[in-house]
Amino acid sequence: MGFDTIIRNGSVVTATDTYTADVAIVNGKIAAIGTELPAQNASKILDATGKLVLPGGIDVHTHLDMPFGGTTTLIDFAIQYKGQPLRQAFDTWMSKAANKAVCDYAFHCIVTDVSGGQLSEMNDLVHEGVTSFKLFMAYPGVFMLDDGSIFKALQTTAKNGGMVCMHAENGSAIDVIVQQALAEGKRAPKYHALTRPTTAEAEAVGRAIALAEMAGAPIYIVHLSCNDALEKIREARDRGLPVYAETCPQYLYLSLENMDAPGFEGAKYVFTPPLREKWHQEKLWNGLKHDHLQVVSTDHCPFCFKEQKEMGRDDFTKIPNGGPGVEHRMSLIYSGGVASGRFNANRFVELVSTTPAKLFGLHPRKGTIAVGSDADLVIFDPGRKHTISAATHHMRVDYSMFEGVQVTGMPDVVLSRGRLVVDGDKFLGRAGQGEFLRRATYAQING
Ligand code: URP
Ligand code: ZN
Ligand code: ZN
Repeated sequence: MGFDTIIRNGSVVTATDTYTADVAIVNGKIAAIGTELPAQNASKILDATGKLVLPGGIDVHTHLDMPFGGTTTLIDFAIQYKGQPLRQAFDTWMSKAANKAVCDYAFHCIVTDVSGGQLSEMNDLVHEGVTSFKLFMAYPGVFMLDDGSIFKALQTTAKNGGMVCMHAENGSAIDVIVQQALAEGKRAPKYHALTRPTTAEAEAVGRAIALAEMAGAPIYIVHLSCNDALEKIREARDRGLPVYAETCPQYLYLSLENMDAPGFEGAKYVFTPPLREKWHQEKLWNGLKHDHLQVVSTDHCPFCFKEQKEMGRDDFTKIPNGGPGVEHRMSLIYSGGVASGRFNANRFVELVSTTPAKLFGLHPRKGTIAVGSDADLVIFDPGRKHTISAATHHMRVDYSMFEGVQVTGMPDVVLSRGRLVVDGDKFLGRAGQGEFLRRATYAQING
């Protein structure tokens, strides 16, 4: 049998195993895994001696092409604005992605209003492969849903097998605190963090879990930032409930201290939930190690400092919420997790690829290295050091949240369905080669 590409002699790492092997690719799929696979007719041989061969990372939380622009990757959020059908959100985001995406992509649908036919539309979208829905317990008047609407949406996913992803913060209480801060003249970026207490997050996480339990539905908490909220997840999982949560590199590497940066620099760290006191970081790493947290995503939502973040110079509530991160997730988590000795490479793969694929209906096509799976593969150099900087990153945004952070472990080569998209410093991807992924439901894979 002839192969298109053979990755030779790497240390293949999945969520469960680590072994030395060759991985062969035919027509964008993994066709064979073995030792000394025959090289005849293989048009490309990639030597991975001394390197790890990982399944491609899956970032299940990005906001690309928001009204202010963005960059690449996987499960993004199609936003339904109030009064709109869900179909409109899906169609809008499909057309944003068409002819542009370099990697395969899918969508969660953000649901901000269930007063029309949106609950039955959730079923329609599930049939089209959009099998998860983000709801907000924050941002009253914009995205926030009341508890009754949240409960109805959860009852809907309990029946259709999908998954609700929850932005869990008590938006009503936060709004009161924000108005009081503004009235006291507190307008600097750090008040974004100081007006969103950890208790507001933990209360909402607890309430979301209770609503999901009553509805008989699984629930996935997005961008969990603090120990108080983590405790709620741990308690629920100890009771055997299908409760899951992700955290993001910013909550593992950055803290409230970053918001004290001089001048208006703290605006670079304005996202929601906000940064927390430093001691939360180790609790979150520990949660990742012990499976109290199951996924690391980025919540990549870039706004340039110039002109965009700057809109809130005189009022922190006008600073657009979000930060860039999609490029460095794998390195930051490998570095802080594996290179620092907190957990092993199998757990790393589970957190950044396999569990995201399982929870969001992409496994085993994505998220593992197995015969028949898509050849989305990363040749990863576990010893390569890199200092993160906006001067060298590839994201189209004028600052890095992780400026100056040194990581150990970097991808050398990236293949998307067998095609080279990154080779060293060269980007070889083509706009339009990414495909829309119709996902299975949570229940079909986990159920
Ligand atoms: O501040 C953030 N996280 N912006 C993105 C939207 C969201 O809530 O995930
Ligand atoms: Zn959110
Ligand atoms: Zn987000």
